[in-house]
Amino acid sequence: MEQMPYRPELDLAVMTGTPTTEVTSSDWRTGLPTLRGGQVVLRELRASDAPSLFALLTTEEVSRFISPPPSTVEGFERFIAWTLRQRTAGAYVCFAVTLKGYDTAIGIFQVRQLEPGFGTAEWGFAIGSDFWGTGVFQDGAELVLDFAFETLGVHRLEARAAVLNGRGNGALQKLGAVQEALLRRSFHHKGQYLDQALYTILDQDWFARDTTPSFVAAPRVH
Ligand SMILES: CC(C)(COP(=O)(O)OP(=O)(O)OC[C@H]1O[C@@H](n2cnc3c(N)ncnc32)[C@H](O)[C@@H]1OP(=O)(O)O)[C@@H](O)C(=O)NCCC(=O)NCCS
Repeated sequence: MEQMPYRPELDLAVMTGTPTTEVTSSDWRTGLPTLRGGQVVLRELRASDAPSLFALLTTEEVSRFISPPPSTVEGFERFIAWTLRQRTAGAYVCFAVTLKGYDTAIGIFQVRQLEPGFGTAEWGFAIGSDFWGTGVFQDGAELVLDFAFETLGVHRLEARAAVLNGRGNGALQKLGAVQEALLRRSFHHKGQYLDQALYTILDQDWFARDTTPSFVAAPRVH
């Protein structure tokens, strides 16, 4: 989602005693499962992720086309506390992106319901620019999409990308997201209104996608 639903001005609580142990519960409302891909591990956010997320997600290139992220480490702590409350309420989930073998949060994936029960939902993501073009996004996105369609029960997943956001549009298109509409001047950002593309992925399309590798090893010639 281009616009993070979190609004710092509406939230004053700071999370204390955030969970530090791995959650294995199948009920995501009590704690997100840890999702493992080829390169990344997605896990619940913790208050201790605030410094790395502040450092990586507040740079000009990352925040250029998204709602302004919190402007302090404490602001990220409040954002993280808010994500945990929203998850407990069953309305929203936010995964921290970490690299296999490291625990540092280098980005986030968010999914929020657009109607009670998550039938229609919206997702968004941001990853530190050092990790762009490395496959980290694709690996994490596939885990989140599986989780959204299989566990949350999403039927239709929307995403909005500012038309000027080349990487955001390209990343969604690579996943097979379909552009359904152009939302004219729909995103107020840094004093101007930007057009956004509305992308969707349906559960049926995700489950029916071609998962064979895009290259086929050439036969050996002896
Ligand atoms: C969106 C984001 C998570 C994608 O991660 P990423 O690692 O950059 O994505 P990828 O490199 O896997 O895919 C981007 C694709 O867009 C392509 N692309 C299209 N237009 C582009 C442009 N103008 N500039 C750069 N890449 C472009 C890239 O070539 C790439 O495709 P390829 O792998 O086939 O070459 C990351 O760029 C990010 O965090 N951006 C800032 C936050 C943001 O804008 N979030 C909202 C997104 S809607």
